[in-house]
Amino acid sequence: MILIDGKKAAAELREELKQEVADLKTKYNKVPGLTVILIGDMAPSQIYVRNKEKSAIEVGLKSEVIKYPDTVEEKIVLEKIEELNNDETVSGILVQLPLPKHIDKQKVIETITPSKDVDGFHPMNVGNLSSGYESSVPCTPLGCYLMIKKIEPNLSGKKAVVVGRSNLNGKPMTQLLLKENCTVTITHSRTKDLKAECLEADIIVAAVGIPELVKGDWVKKDAIVIDVGINKTENGLVGDVAFDEVSKVAKALTPVPGGVGPMTIACLLKNTVECFKRSQK
Ligand code: GUN
Repeated sequence: MILIDGKKAAAELREELKQEVADLKTKYNKVPGLTVILIGDMAPSQIYVRNKEKSAIEVGLKSEVIKYPDTVEEKIVLEKIEELNNDETVSGILVQLPLPKHIDKQKVIETITPSKDVDGFHPMNVGNLSSGYESSVPCTPLGCYLMIKKIEPNLSGKKAVVVGRSNLNGKPMTQLLLKENCTVTITHSRTKDLKAECLEADIIVAAVGIPELVKGDWVKKDAIVIDVGINKTENGLVGDVAFDEVSKVAKALTPVPGGVGPMTIACLLKNTVECFKRSQK
């Protein structure tokens, strides 16, 4: 079984990006910039944002974090986004989710200009991705896609089952696999016979937020299994895949932690570089 090392894959991607950023600096005499807006003091968000900043600096991006208390007015945030939309030194804008209840998430997402939407959450990017046009692609599914492609470069005709239908993961993952000519089945918590669906799959991406849902006898021999889940349980952090069981049948599997997580952040940096390059065209 191939244990997919997300940490190593992310380090390799960061190394490639570092070189690319250095080349862009030579060519344009400026570097891509990433600005993250962080509202409130939720611990997981603070940790994510610190990691994003650290990685951005490592590859040579201009990195900025703007912090607001969780009482900040929505208007202030929207005005800041408008300012960043018009700031030439900012290539990518990310507003860390979740947001306090009094701030309208969709309004925030739609205020970020699509060309700087490094999350790929703006309806314009969502639409472009589903139409097969150039777009920002949400970082987590992009990371999953790159890891799958490393194991199996030719996905044409493969059967893929995506477990979970979120806008963040399941839906964009489906679009990426479709583009690669996979036959994709989208399943979710209400799917009638999830086990039977999974047993058909050459590729399973589990992103449903149910601890160890995908069992060993749900997985076809030599399937590629990507575990997007991060679930806190009494036994510590576990994914959506029963790791020990599935590792005995799968061809390749991502661990939790150390699989998808590190690639997500590296893909955010990749998206920032892509936004910069498109802005220079
Ligand atoms: N919070 C958890 N994951 C994400 C993400 O991918 N993007 C944003 N903006 N917030 C998040």
